[in-house]
Amino acid sequence: VTAPERIALVDATVATMVDGPVPYGLIPDAIVVMAAGVIKAVGRREDVAVPAGAEVRSLRGRLVTPGFVDCHTHLVFGRHRAGEFAARLEGASYADIAAAGGGIRTTVEATRAAGEQQLYEVSRRRLLRLHHTGATTVEIKSGYGLDLDTELRMLQVARRLAADGPVTVRTTLLAAHVVSPEYEHDPDGYVQLIIETILPEAVRQGLVDAVDVFCEHLAFSPEQTDHVFAAARRHGLPVKIHAAQLAPGAGLAVATTHRALSADHLEHATESQVEAMAAAGTVAVLLPGATHMLQEAKRPPVAALRRHGVPMALASDLNPGTSPVADLALVCNLGAILLGLTPEEALAGVTRNGATALGLGDRGTIAPGMRADLAVWDVSHPAEIVYWVGMDLCSAVWVGGVLSFDRES
Ligand code: NIG
Ligand code: FE
Repeated sequence: VTAPERIALVDATVATMVDGPVPYGLIPDAIVVMAAGVIKAVGRREDVAVPAGAEVRSLRGRLVTPGFVDCHTHLVFGRHRAGEFAARLEGASYADIAAAGGGIRTTVEATRAAGEQQLYEVSRRRLLRLHHTGATTVEIKSGYGLDLDTELRMLQVARRLAADGPVTVRTTLLAAHVVSPEYEHDPDGYVQLIIETILPEAVRQGLVDAVDVFCEHLAFSPEQTDHVFAAARRHGLPVKIHAAQLAPGAGLAVATTHRALSADHLEHATESQVEAMAAAGTVAVLLPGATHMLQEAKRPPVAALRRHGVPMALASDLNPGTSPVADLALVCNLGAILLGLTPEEALAGVTRNGATALGLGDRGTIAPGMRADLAVWDVSHPAEIVYWVGMDLCSAVWVGGVLSFDRES
């Protein structure tokens, strides 16, 4: 599908999300002009001309935001873990379940058993749900294969989702999610398999945009994380980390040494680690869906992140264990209620800062030259997106200037 030559959205309320003195970068009674997949102009009605021949659409005062960026998902997976959820409600902890061989391992079995087509179909449903709640760019991690074939298959499914559109997909190799069952007694052997076999082959097939490691006591050590990151960088790939979720640890220092694009979870991050993130330009990705589902009492250090000017992104973490959540508006609400973000911080988290967490400088705000990724909402003020719960307020989405979701048609 190619983008129409020129589109003008008129009678719009626009939250440009451009960082500056105006909250949300809000422009009332605005016009947005897009052409050839790019934003050409945005501003007040009196300041922007509708180009001759443009396709004009009136939004009748409704709100437009940048298309949402979900910068952390595990949405390709075999099946649900509702049984484990029920066990947690009875008092079992996430770490207990993992130590007993459940948790991520359960999903690894289900994902290995699923065929490519089956994985594709369940994943596509999840991706479209994110899209219909405003997402235009979604990151997808591997990590439920933990062997060459299944890790590649997960990334191939992600690339196929990208090719079929409309959502832009970024892939992340997370073969270092937990130690694969085959290497239970030889974790370093598994790290070696990742470095010498899985990563090079995934790179050779063009399947990897970034590399992630789950650095935690039940997964990989800071030293092992360092080895995987060093290998990633030899391939010219940026790195990301799951760190300080369940306990404090030295993983964040490894991430900042490698100038990680993002460090994710961060419940137990210390002030000096936050300072190092600021210096390294590492974005904090906060995942309140996991806080909610795990009933986690420990909160990420939002005040320290603010103090040191670390950009905060919010993401769904969509996965069957800790965050079966496919709605970024709900994630914004959880970010405000559970993590204490302001509505404006929450929206910046799923737009501008989510894009930065993926290293994408061409999206996340509405400004001339940016990609024409836009979402329209049945509200008149941006804080309403964060405030309403489960209202399904997204009514239209454009990806690269192409109308890909439209409740009115
Ligand atoms: O981001 N923390 C590690 N990975 C996922 C959980 C994966 C799972 O339990 O299946 C997360 O929370
Ligand atoms: Fe995760």
